[in-house]
Amino acid sequence: MVEAGGSNPPGPIGDGMKATAKANANIALIKYWGKRDEALILPYNSSISMTCDAMETITTVEFSENYDTDTAIINDEELSSDQKRVYDHIGMIRKMAGIKEKAKIVSESNFPLAAGLASSASGFAALTVAAVAAAGLKLPEKELSIIARQGSGSACRSILGGFVEWKKGSKSSDSYAEQIAGKDYWKDFRMIATIVKEGRKAISSRSGMSQTVKNSPYYSGWLSSIEEDLNRMREAIRSRDFASAGSIAEYNALKMHCTMMTSKPPIMYWKPATVEIMNAVMAWREDLESYFTMDAGPNVKVMCMKKDEKELCQRLSELEGVVKTISCAPGSGAALSQKHLFD
Ligand code: DP6
Repeated sequence: MVEAGGSNPPGPIGDGMKATAKANANIALIKYWGKRDEALILPYNSSISMTCDAMETITTVEFSENYDTDTAIINDEELSSDQKRVYDHIGMIRKMAGIKEKAKIVSESNFPLAAGLASSASGFAALTVAAVAAAGLKLPEKELSIIARQGSGSACRSILGGFVEWKKGSKSSDSYAEQIAGKDYWKDFRMIATIVKEGRKAISSRSGMSQTVKNSPYYSGWLSSIEEDLNRMREAIRSRDFASAGSIAEYNALKMHCTMMTSKPPIMYWKPATVEIMNAVMAWREDLESYFTMDAGPNVKVMCMKKDEKELCQRLSELEGVVKTISCAPGSGAALSQKHLFD
């Protein structure tokens, strides 16, 4: 494996104009919710996440004059041309590199897509790192993060490992992710993605956040309390204070969901199993310290320390409506890989 940014010469890694990258998903402890610029994907607020080692996307990109059009096959399904985001992203990188060749993209994730599990984060991070290398560009992490951000905001955080902050910045060139602490700094932190049977989300985070910004009366409350959440979370990570990190993350997620529920029409991602898990986690806290967070979907992510991981996974899997748990430790940032997904 070769680190994504810094000193990777694209020559020996890409075979001609082909390269493969891996990226982990990330789950936000302080959420990104709302864009001040929808085209450039500039957020209203900074956010903080943990890169998750057990949820990974691997993507191979090849530019070749043998291809007449761009094609993308994601988890064995061909994307239609109206699923523009992926093709727009490839087009942007092609333009930056000054090349004309069309691309073939093949991508696989080891976890469910479009379920509020940050698949767009690992997806666009892996796509960015692979496409940049395949196009013959050599860019530092900061630039990779800026490019990934323009595919999907949360993807800019998956370029880096460990605990990461996406600084909202004042313009495109200073809105990117930086590491707060590497993956080995707080090895015992666990994020358990708890998958419920209701599965996929009904409304994308993109349209959900756009609607919320426009008409939730509580969106201003979200923004006015975010700096304090960010400051306290940075401090909790630096001092490895689990009670503080967990409780701030939980409250931050609830605030985000309140802005969703109070937009018009209301956006309600929670299903019965979502509420069941949240209540159980709060009740268990007496003897098993854990906290929850949720994104734009019905699944719940539960945070705990390594010593409680086994017991917590067991209890979660016994709840009605839970189909699977995926336990994650802090993971690595995006990286190039030698093993392509197609010949
Ligand atoms: C609730 O990054 O998926 O997961 O920028 O429109 O692609 P786009 O949105 P996306 O939104 C993620 C929202 C969130 C919170 C978070 O991950 O910070």
